[in-house]
Amino acid sequence: MLPFRDFWMLASPGAFVDRMLRPIHHWVWGDFDRRVRKLIAFGEVEGDGGRDILRAAELTPDPLLRRLYLAHAIDELHHADLFRKRSAALLRTRSARSSGLFDATPLPGGHGLDDLCIEGEPDHRLLAFLHVAEKAAAGRFAIYREVVDDDPATRAIFEEILRDEVFHMNYTYTQLARISPATYRRHVWRARASRLWKRYLRFAAVIAAIFGTVMLTLQYFVLVPPFAWLARRAEKREPAGWVPIPRETPESSTSLY
Ligand SMILES: [Fe+2]
Ligand SMILES: [Fe+2]
Repeated sequence: MLPFRDFWMLASPGAFVDRMLRPIHHWVWGDFDRRVRKLIAFGEVEGDGGRDILRAAELTPDPLLRRLYLAHAIDELHHADLFRKRSAALLRTRSARSSGLFDATPLPGGHGLDDLCIEGEPDHRLLAFLHVAEKAAAGRFAIYREVVDDDPATRAIFEEILRDEVFHMNYTYTQLARISPATYRRHVWRARASRLWKRYLRFAAVIAAIFGTVMLTLQYFVLVPPFAWLARRAEKREPAGWVPIPRETPESSTSLY
């Protein structure tokens, strides 16, 4: 049975989709190389997010938010450190394993802080964005924690990070309600819609790339063969080797033209 904290965290539509994709998460994390790559990517995203939130702490005029942003940034930088160290430790234990047929990870990363934009953003918009991103991250890390059951050290990292993400998710919501008591729900919905739109654009780009590859492959196999066949047929009609120039040709054999 899921703990209460996990239950309400996983009750959002996005978390439901993630749970539906659980077999894919299993497949992604089941391969050693993909696991290491995921951890490295998470380390980068968490580190970038931490630096951006540090910048937000510099820019905000609100002293309480500054303190909370600082604590948040320290957490994210710590997460980056945990992911980096774990991926390095896994790499050290790496034997000569095959990388598999398909190494890419089609699912989005855990945090989504790579979409974060600080400059010129008012606190209410930043808090709404952070709340939505942290909630999504908490839902994903809860799934990752389950799918890396065979790897207790990585599981412990997700367990630790999950606790922080739940705190981030809660404080951003509370602070958003404090600074925008009348409109905080609208800000959250707008942030959710914006995130959904960005996800859609990424998904559409992937589909367009697949569609383009299929179309080009079809063109190669459908349009090119008739031309190759015509070229071969024309080649058969040509005499092989050197061909004597007829005597009645008016052109001089020493002329360039
Ligand atoms: Fe994090
Ligand atoms: Fe976080």
